Amino acid sequence: MSERYQPAAAGDAATGAPGPGSAAAGECVGEGLWLVRRESGLALVSDDGLELTGDFSAMRRRLRPQNLAHELLVRAARVKGVAHPTVFDATAGLGEDSFLLASAGFSVTLCERDPVIAALLADALERAAADPGLAQAASRMRLVRADSVAELATLEQAPDVVFLDPMFPGRQKSALVKKKLQLLQRLERPCSDEAGLMGAALAARPRKVVVKRPAKGPWLAGVRPSYSLAGKAVRYDCVVPASCGNLAQAEKDPRS
Ligand SMILES: C[S@@+](CC[C@H](N)C(=O)[O-])C[C@H]1O[C@@H](n2cnc3c(N)ncnc32)[C@H](O)[C@@H]1O
Repeated sequence: MSERYQPAAAGDAATGAPGPGSAAAGECVGEGLWLVRRESGLALVSDDGLELTGDFSAMRRRLRPQNLAHELLVRAARVKGVAHPTVFDATAGLGEDSFLLASAGFSVTLCERDPVIAALLADALERAAADPGLAQAASRMRLVRADSVAELATLEQAPDVVFLDPMFPGRQKSALVKKKLQLLQRLERPCSDEAGLMGAALAARPRKVVVKRPAKGPWLAGVRPSYSLAGKAVRYDCVVPASCGNLAQAEKDPRS
């Protein structure tokens, strides 16, 4: 993480210094990948011209109270009789799902193990905290840079909800998702420890585990959900330990 990034076209060819208005010098964080400080925030930039910044401001329309109430994730994560449930987002990524939940009144701990994704997320949270329209939600969010499997085992108080959205190996259709994923997939691989993640989530003794899956994807780690909320592209599988036993057994998913 010590090389410097200087886009050739924008910099001074003689001195190698970044030119005015160009990207500031950045850190190499992988093959052809750079973390660059832009005026708009920290960006992950690739040599082939892709760029990604964590940003919650584009979500404003979705964050209106009348919209939030209909968000499938918000409905899946609600806990009967608890006005402001606590959520442990064990696969935080760039935090958009968590931001929806925080905007709906949940208190969210976001856990991210990849240092580059965590840096983008921390930067997005910082900018949200300084934006009057987003600050209230940001104040309900806390970032932990760690592996969730280990972190969940250290929790002194059980969260109401553990949320899991590990990278799914299948194809994604939306162009936007594709573009973001192209960059993110260079940093992270599809989840290879589904059972470890689900086991750690259940062992933390939440009231429920909510798992985000592609609409037709298999159950995570083969654990049968107590119920599911399905949309066109995405499905939320809710595992309620009290209704299926704390050691939910892996079963053969009828879809697989
Ligand atoms: C598909 S992305 C999550 C996207 C997220 N829901 C959002 O709204 O942006 C999955 C993320 O989980 C992280 N992750 C996977 N396993 C993890 C673990 N055991 N502990 C912490 N983070 C993990 C990956 O690094 C990746 O950033």
